[in-house]
Amino acid sequence: MNELIVVTGGTGYIGSHTTVELLEAGYDVLIIDNLANSRIEVLDGIEKIAGRRPFFEELDICNKAGVLDCFERYPGIKAIIHFAAHKAVPESVAKPLMYYENNLVSLINLLQAMKEHRIKHFVFSSSCTVYGQPDKLPVTEKSPIKIASSPYGNTKQISEEIINDTILAGDGLDAICLRYFNPVGAHTSAEIGELPLGVPQNLVPFITQTAIGIREELSVFGDDYNTPDGSAVRDYINVVDLSRAHVVSINRLLSGKNKRDLEIFNLGTGTGLSVFEVIKAFVEATGVEFKYKVVDRRDGDIEQVYADTTLANDELGWKAEVGLIDTMKSAWAWEQNIRNQME
Ligand code: NAD
Ligand code: WQD
Repeated sequence: MNELIVVTGGTGYIGSHTTVELLEAGYDVLIIDNLANSRIEVLDGIEKIAGRRPFFEELDICNKAGVLDCFERYPGIKAIIHFAAHKAVPESVAKPLMYYENNLVSLINLLQAMKEHRIKHFVFSSSCTVYGQPDKLPVTEKSPIKIASSPYGNTKQISEEIINDTILAGDGLDAICLRYFNPVGAHTSAEIGELPLGVPQNLVPFITQTAIGIREELSVFGDDYNTPDGSAVRDYINVVDLSRAHVVSINRLLSGKNKRDLEIFNLGTGTGLSVFEVIKAFVEATGVEFKYKVVDRRDGDIEQVYADTTLANDELGWKAEVGLIDTMKSAWAWEQNIRNQME
């Protein structure tokens, strides 16, 4: 029998891609998701790619009794990858309690249920948001954590502390926190990808929706930053590359190669790209032009951030491989496929 990995939030954007990578690596997967920000049809996409369907439980992880009952029904869980969370920064400013409750109660429930069921291994989705606007670039895992600029960001900082404290308490937890930079793109099959509800907040889905005609034009938030072309700079990491890092992290935990302390890794490409560079890459990759205009800076945006990935490269033996052009092609193929399906 294959080893069973729980993926919370597994019908979501990064969770679905990671589920595919886990299945293809020979693991069994149990997805737990309440479908708050994803669709059940994602399971079909996963099955088409991987040739196997993950187990699926529709459950709110804030329901502790439900989590305990679920773990009873699936004996032999080896590890948990915890993606499930709310993730929209502006929404977290408007509804902080909803964010603190969902993102923190779910984490605490899982850690308690893991203790009860003697499940040791845990991988957590953290974010580059913990660095705020760094004083020095690129950012390493030792760069200072800045005061969070949103309740969402704060939930990631607090979550890392909760995990660290639980390890220090000697509760038998072994964990890796992965700090993602800006995940973009889709599986090359175009069977799964990012599907934001409503108006996209993030750059790449806004570009693909504009290119396909759902949005009229992209607003570029600011061209007066202190960057080479004036637009803001980020580290855009391909979602399949990002997902592979989760399989590597699970292998590391299961083979006992991790250090006993909480391990934290930046997951990015190491290269900063401006908004204008991303737009140019999309047009080059797809041949599709779309309208955009420069508007004021968006509140709360930082000027630039990109990762130093040396630790993930050396310790995990992982590195980003897919280039920006191929990533843009994958995002565009997914956008076209999903709109065809929805027609
Ligand atoms: P997503 O919204 O696509 O996926 C999250 C999934 O979790 C959704 O399917 C949602 O239905 C589910 N979920 C939320 N609350 C739940 C609950 N209480 N119980 C059960 N299921 C629940 O988001 P994503 O982009 O795949 O992000 C995954 C993780 O990575 C999140 O923790 C997010 O904060 C983190 N992250 C994302 C980004 C990014 O830009 N996408 C960057 C850094 C970190
Ligand atoms: C990227 C760049 C925008 C939309 C967010 C979260 C962060 C992390 C990743 C979870 C910025 C510009 C965007 C648009 C634009 N998520 N932009 N027009 O803000 O770097 O990070 O996602 O942990 O916490 O804050 O990502 O994709 O929104 O923006 O010009 O319509 O694109 O100003 O420079 P961001 P993004």
